Amino acid sequence: MSTTQQQSKTSLIGRDTLRIDGPRKVTGLAQYTSDFSFPGMLYAVPAEATIANGKLLTLDTSVAEKMKGVRAVFHRGNIGKIFRSTPAPGFDRVCLERRPPFEDDVIRYYGQYIAVAIADTFETAKAAADAVRATYAKEKPNVQSLLEAGNDPDVVFTAYGPVQRLQSHRGDAVAAFASAPVKLDETYVTPAETHNPLELHATTAMWEGQVLTLYDSTQGVVNLRSVLAQMFGLPKENVRVIAKFLGSGFGGKLYPWTHVSLAAAASRQLGKPVKLVISRKMMFQTVGHRARTQQRIRVGATPEGKLVSLHHDYIYHMSLDDPYHEDCGEATPFHYSVPNLRVTFGRARRNIGATADMRGPGAVPGLYATESAMNEMADRLKIDPVRFRLLNEPKIDESLNIPFSSRHYVECLNLGAEKFGWSKRNPVVGSMKRDGLTLGWGMAGAAWIAGRFAAEANMQLRDDGTVRIACATQDIGTGTYTILAQLAAEKTGVDVNKIEVDLGDSALPDGPISGGSLATSSVIPAVFKAADQAITSLLIVAISTPGSPFLGRSPEDLALQGGRIFVKAEGVAKGVPFGDVLRGANVRLVAGSGSSEMTAFEQNPKFSKHSFGCHFVEVTWQAEIARLRVSRVVTVMDAGRILNPLTGRNQIQGAVVMGIGMALFEHTTYHPPTGAPINSNLADYIVTVNADAPPIDVHFLDYPDKEINELGARGIGEIGLAGVAAAITEAVYHATGVRVRELPVKIEDLLA
Ligand code: MOS
Repeated sequence: MSTTQQQSKTSLIGRDTLRIDGPRKVTGLAQYTSDFSFPGMLYAVPAEATIANGKLLTLDTSVAEKMKGVRAVFHRGNIGKIFRSTPAPGFDRVCLERRPPFEDDVIRYYGQYIAVAIADTFETAKAAADAVRATYAKEKPNVQSLLEAGNDPDVVFTAYGPVQRLQSHRGDAVAAFASAPVKLDETYVTPAETHNPLELHATTAMWEGQVLTLYDSTQGVVNLRSVLAQMFGLPKENVRVIAKFLGSGFGGKLYPWTHVSLAAAASRQLGKPVKLVISRKMMFQTVGHRARTQQRIRVGATPEGKLVSLHHDYIYHMSLDDPYHEDCGEATPFHYSVPNLRVTFGRARRNIGATADMRGPGAVPGLYATESAMNEMADRLKIDPVRFRLLNEPKIDESLNIPFSSRHYVECLNLGAEKFGWSKRNPVVGSMKRDGLTLGWGMAGAAWIAGRFAAEANMQLRDDGTVRIACATQDIGTGTYTILAQLAAEKTGVDVNKIEVDLGDSALPDGPISGGSLATSSVIPAVFKAADQAITSLLIVAISTPGSPFLGRSPEDLALQGGRIFVKAEGVAKGVPFGDVLRGANVRLVAGSGSSEMTAFEQNPKFSKHSFGCHFVEVTWQAEIARLRVSRVVTVMDAGRILNPLTGRNQIQGAVVMGIGMALFEHTTYHPPTGAPINSNLADYIVTVNADAPPIDVHFLDYPDKEINELGARGIGEIGLAGVAAAITEAVYHATGVRVRELPVKIEDLLA
């Protein structure tokens, strides 16, 4: 057996690998942010505005301050200076609500923090926060759900830089639509949705002199460090952010929110660690949500099913001051071949908390609209929806006129249809039955960006034969600890149980946010370069240490495999464990560092880099009792090389489950008189639970995309959600004959 064969046989890349942090999680040893406690630690509970528009006139904290165990009640008058943070070039200092807490007396949204009570216990702090009395000059809030574009300039400033409102255009979409033989003009609406990870946002802040340490439930320790350093006027070396385990985030924890600086400021005033865990109700108010969108889609096609024109004009809601852009048009310009296209957006300001990234931001609501329109057009043309998509498969990215780095959408569609049994579909509405239930079958496509953020990593090879790999990225529950162990194992041949992975600490080499589905693809080059450097150091020890079996050899003659240093010409069987060599040299460890360059959001890319996929969905409909169920799903993903199919399938299944929620359950409802998100709890804001989750059959195509990194891995965190809702609403139509164009599908929509 040759060495390369041996290597691929033992490689963990592409192999189901159990989470290395699994035992710590199931035994309760894993410490989430709110699990950390410190001597003298105090508890903070914010007081929330009970209006959504107006001015704070008076604040009475006297009752709260006199409560036993209360240390302070902070507000604008006594919190001390909190500066604004500003955006930085590159992907740094991102923050979606820039206004520091208490900066002025203006109330812009319901639940905005107006004070924060600090006490010896959480219960006392809560009682004190509840005892704070406020008076307001109250105005009628605008939380209207019908969206009309505000008076924005052609180029708007967003959290990620300036964006043109005419987002993409080619040909003459207006004329081509006017003359198209077959037309569709429909508007699709997605509601405000709220991130509901199990773990609440939590932060504990403490100061030692001018050094601020934060334990925070963040998807980005490095970015949070930059933002907080600026907000407190500190060099960033003086701020350390730690997030060892996260109970997910869905994008809501990507960037710091106002409670973080509130905890830091309170801790500064009192000289004690301050822990602030927000409530489930606050999760709906102050830590971001997915924008409501209203998307008009116009499609023109020939009777044979060739697209001739596509318009995507969308409007989303947003808070009064914050610049978040819900990029619903992200996938529209390249997803299908169409000579005439126009994508535009408008924005509607509302008295609501900041909008934010939520799993598949932009593309997920966007693809709901465009894929729904594709399905409706296929129906109008009497062409099978899979075939309609195949007829409009692009050869290149027609918006940028560049090739795709790796696109296998056609294969996704064909494989999905085969695995699902799509050829047995009778397109007549309500015609398919099983066990007394009406079946509905629907499908839709998916896409999501690919690329890399900048990343650095450090690797140690140690004299006990263990390896440490360190990177200031995070594991939000998706398996990043395990992926890094697999990567380190790939380079060293050391068993994953002997690899220590250190993440979630801004003191480690700068790592990417756990966002954009880019963490894995970003860290690969950094980890591999760090490993190469560490191995080079190791081999220098091996050839230069008196008594080493490799003394006097040239480094090029040697290699490391299976944890052994060996002479290439002699084979690994005659190798020596690297720990023995280090011990023989009295060297505790050798180390190496590596970095990856950012390639996402390039100005002039050579390739159009995306992942693709599709979902096939079956629903059952029992008209007599108006019972709708998603009964099975087949999903195919073209997401580059899959490093860990076990955690990979888990990610996609989780996303499909979330897609069922998007289609059927999730919506944040604002109460017009008060502007409050009124279903701000997990009883009234319905998410999919296990009982709603059908069998989900996930297939990966596993084509490496070498434009992304040397392993060809893209990302899988978000794409699994894209398209699910459109597939479900198509299946609902097929079962019931009702076209629902506003999510979520409600039973009353189907009773018509
Ligand atoms: Mo994702 S919305 O980038 O956490």
